[in-house]
Amino acid sequence: MNEMIILNNVSKKFGDFYALKDLSLEIGKHEKVAIYGSSGSGKSTLLYLLGGLDRPTTGSISCFGESIDLYSDHDLALYRNNSIGFIFQFHFLLGTLTGLENILLPAQISGHHDVSSIKKNIMNYAQELGVDNILNKLPSEMSGGQQQRINILRAISLKPNILLCDEPTGNLDSNNSKIVIDLLDKISTETGATLLVVTHDKSVASRFHRRVEILDGGLGNQVTNSL
Ligand SMILES: Nc1ncnc2c1ncn2[C@@H]1O[C@H](COP(=O)(O)OP(=O)(O)OP(=O)(O)O)[C@@H](O)[C@H]1O
Ligand SMILES: [Mg+2]
Repeated sequence: MNEMIILNNVSKKFGDFYALKDLSLEIGKHEKVAIYGSSGSGKSTLLYLLGGLDRPTTGSISCFGESIDLYSDHDLALYRNNSIGFIFQFHFLLGTLTGLENILLPAQISGHHDVSSIKKNIMNYAQELGVDNILNKLPSEMSGGQQQRINILRAISLKPNILLCDEPTGNLDSNNSKIVIDLLDKISTETGATLLVVTHDKSVASRFHRRVEILDGGLGNQVTNSL
């Protein structure tokens, strides 16, 4: 397997509590993986470590052949900006910015992107997700499901190498869930991104060729099958 992500004996402790314990996992380049497990099992913690938003207590995490756990804070910030698209379980939209301004914020901050071409791209995706007509609204004027889709558009805006999605369909009905998963699937195929989707929804998980269970901070069942 052409590994993109290798976790080797990763543990994450909060005080005396192990949110993750001795977790080893390999995920290939271009792979699309569903991650499931009961509440509190460590799924979001795992995504935070992979996204460089937090560091493991022990163990190593390699992405693109580099040990991100050894990165300086500066290099970790570059890794987040250049390689990671993160869809948060609880939406972090800036309340004073409109939907579109929130989506374009990463491009504007990085300063290395052609914001108008990104905007054009995003308008197409926004239409697919049915949120093109609310892009000028503030988050407080949006429903939870609308905020979730704005969050998704922001995460994909810079075509990340790794797309980490924490319950991306948590606030959506089954029809909109399907549209979101279709779009994430399409975008990761188009860009070659590795796609990891944390989900409680069995119908979402069943769309994935590989499914990995996180159980009490470790690895549970793993299923890989042809769809
Ligand atoms: N910053 C933190 N400080 C202390 N404990 C934490 C922290 N973050 C997570 N935990 C604990 O670690 C465990 C794993 O949390 P995590 O958020 O990864 O679970 P999860 O699998 O994503 O759950 P859910 O399905 O409910 O989102 C939980 O018991 C949680 O209380
Ligand atoms: Mg979680």
